[in-house]
Amino acid sequence: MKKGKIKFLTYPLVVLFAGMLLAAFVSPTESTNMPENWDIPAKYKEMKNPHAGDASLDRVGKMLFAKHCKSCHGNIGLGDGPKAASMTAKMMPFNDPKFQAQTDGEIYYQSIIGMEEMPNFEKKILEEEDRWAVVNFLRSLK
Ligand code: HEC
Repeated sequence: MKKGKIKFLTYPLVVLFAGMLLAAFVSPTESTNMPENWDIPAKYKEMKNPHAGDASLDRVGKMLFAKHCKSCHGNIGLGDGPKAASMTAKMMPFNDPKFQAQTDGEIYYQSIIGMEEMPNFEKKILEEEDRWAVVNFLRSLK
């Protein structure tokens, strides 16, 4: 009688635990559905890059990426930086055609405004020119 009662309680607990474990492994891969999981305001989507193709910004873009982004996104933006393991959301590799198919304004929004685990950089990268230098750098990773 007692034994049956324990079984009755353990079974749902085991199922619940297994479910949680499964969810922990499944959810990070589910969030690779980017860019769909970004809700970017039209104002940003349509924003024109005033520095498109400006090679004089290459160095500063690379430098800013190394300073602010590399720790999570990795050296060449594959999403494999040292901090990547502690992120719940999976980062998109910047060489992915789906990522590169976005407009410069969308990439600007993701890079500077961010969301959830992707930090906001408005106070860290102040100059518009520097912000676009970062966007240009991400473009160069295709
Ligand atoms: C603390 C870790 C961290 C840092 C630092 C960081 N990012 Fe991210 N970034 C993320 C995560 C996590 C995501 C995925 C967000 C999501 O999809 O929910 C992301 C997403 C992005 C995306 C959209 C593509 C994608 O993978 O979803 C861009 C673009 C981006 N980051 C650019 C940058 C740039 C540029 C910098 C530096 C100025 C930077 N990030 C710094 C963690 C970081």
